[in-house]
Amino acid sequence: MFRDAFCGKISKSDVGKTVTLSGWVDGRRDHGGVTFIDLRDHEGLVQVVFNPQLSEKIHQQAHGLRSEFVIKVTGLVSIRPEGTLNKDLASGEVEVLVSDLSILNRSKPLPFLIEDGEEISDTLRLKYRYLDLRRPSVQKHFVLRHKLSQAVRNFLNRHNFLEIETPYLTKSTPEGARDFLVPSRMNQGTFYALPQSPQLFKQILMISGFDRYYQIVRCFRDEDLRADRQPEFTQIDMELAFVDQEEIIGIMEKMIAKVFAEAGSLELALPIPRMSYAEAIERFGTDRPDTRFALELKDVCDLAAESDFKVFRSVVENGGLVKGINAKGMASLSRKEIDTLTKEVITRGAKGLAWIKMKPEGLESAITKFFKPEVLDKISKRFEAEPGDLLLFIADKKQVVHGVLADLRLNLGKRLNLVDDKQFNPLWVTDFPLFEYDETAKRYTAIHHPFTAPLDCDLPLLETNPLKVRSKAYDLVLNGVELGGGSIRIHEGTVQNKVFELLGITKEEAQSKFGFLLEALSFGAPPHGGIAFGFDRIVALLAGVDSIREIIAFPKTQRGTCLMTEAPSEVDQRQLKDLHIKKDLT
Ligand code: AMO
Ligand code: AMP
Repeated sequence: MFRDAFCGKISKSDVGKTVTLSGWVDGRRDHGGVTFIDLRDHEGLVQVVFNPQLSEKIHQQAHGLRSEFVIKVTGLVSIRPEGTLNKDLASGEVEVLVSDLSILNRSKPLPFLIEDGEEISDTLRLKYRYLDLRRPSVQKHFVLRHKLSQAVRNFLNRHNFLEIETPYLTKSTPEGARDFLVPSRMNQGTFYALPQSPQLFKQILMISGFDRYYQIVRCFRDEDLRADRQPEFTQIDMELAFVDQEEIIGIMEKMIAKVFAEAGSLELALPIPRMSYAEAIERFGTDRPDTRFALELKDVCDLAAESDFKVFRSVVENGGLVKGINAKGMASLSRKEIDTLTKEVITRGAKGLAWIKMKPEGLESAITKFFKPEVLDKISKRFEAEPGDLLLFIADKKQVVHGVLADLRLNLGKRLNLVDDKQFNPLWVTDFPLFEYDETAKRYTAIHHPFTAPLDCDLPLLETNPLKVRSKAYDLVLNGVELGGGSIRIHEGTVQNKVFELLGITKEEAQSKFGFLLEALSFGAPPHGGIAFGFDRIVALLAGVDSIREIIAFPKTQRGTCLMTEAPSEVDQRQLKDLHIKKDLT
């Protein structure tokens, strides 16, 4: 027997018992001839004591113990002597007086200390991820992850969702990122794609007559990585038959509230507020606004048009936008600091940053000379500007203005300490446009995916003004993070073909890429819709960590590599031959 108790669970109520514990040596201290070890298991630490008066032999043995040796001890649980209590430790009132010790395994000297709060480089952490994972603060994220997935399963099972697995070796899905490809040995020259999501399969499951599907499923996307993006990540994926948008939103917000309360002890008020895509862009410049603070964008095109400032006027005359933001109380920023902000917005794509300082003694700015006093007055009113404020403006094409100001808003929100880490502001963003126009490719592209249904009232616009068509798509945003997104799908072949036509997907292309779905849709597809949540993002938010890497057991680096296994790596010539693959790296 290795143990009959857990280190972290030993408490005052065990005093007088003899226990056997197994775990890792977390640290060793020698005091006045007595050796103290902090013994660690998955539940926590307990102090174990090797006293020569109890056994000289065991005390001698304890001298040889080093960090991360794996040992088994048997001993008597005792109250610690007065003055030696450790309030930071759950088991800090007691210690175990060891009467028997076995060394189960030794450890090489460690590349870093396995201690919470230790500053370790990411490279070392990922190379020795198994040691990094031993740290209690890291372990607790995986307990949370587990609790969350259990809470999700419980909820969905109770609401009659059926868990069904879909293939990993499949055909490319049009989710928008690059596919990871897997060559087929048995079918020379052909490739599977790893799924970017189970989108097409879950729709087909509805056509197959299943009523509600779910899967906590791995998805694969070969895209540029960021703090909240990994090449393989997990979705809570769902699809429902005979539902409309209201029903899906209703069930899903109940699920999110329940799961957050059960696993994260966090109460979200229902119903979750909603905002249309158009309003989100208008007020915050982005379709995933962080609504924990204001600093909203204001449109000043009308006032810019009344000025003599050439930059502003010409942008407005050419159909662009002039919008600004009131950086509350930041008039004290130096020229140098404004120059730094200007450089930042230029890197993000802007051509410059115009500003007006609302000094108590009057306005200070390089551009006020181009404005009549009454127009300046209107600007000031629009921004509800007060002495001490700083107004910042961007004039450019719509997308640039919104993108740049959305980033600037987040940046200022942080600088001004307006973001409360303890606050959780969920928001449904609805009524997304169905299409956007890709200037480079000179064609429409789907904002969500090509199977998203248009709003019924906008169907006629498919013929006349496709960019004005809104869709039955919805995203759940929390504190500026897109947690999930979904839509009601097109279930009729005619509408689907029209959408493909607008997307520039020819009949042949549609047939070869997703002919199987089109055919399935023609055999009596029920109205259906669904959603997928980024499970890693939910865990990261509730764990309070910045990157989803923290809550994935074996994550990839920014360059998509695994430092522990050294994947991706070269393979044998033989393996390539089997797959009929020749490398051509030029
Ligand atoms: P979508 O592409 O919006 O929708 O993905 C759903 C959610 O998955 C998360 N996510 C990611 N998380 C980590 N790393 C990534 N690389 C990554 N990419 C996406 C986000 C996102 O909101 N099939 C549709 C869903 C549907 O229509 O039902 C889909 O995949 O949190
Ligand atoms: P200039 O007339 O080029 O000296 O610019 C005067 C001010 O306007 C500077 O602060 C520039 O950074 C700013 N500016 C220039 N172009 C733009 C633009 N497209 N949008 C916002 N501000 C701009």
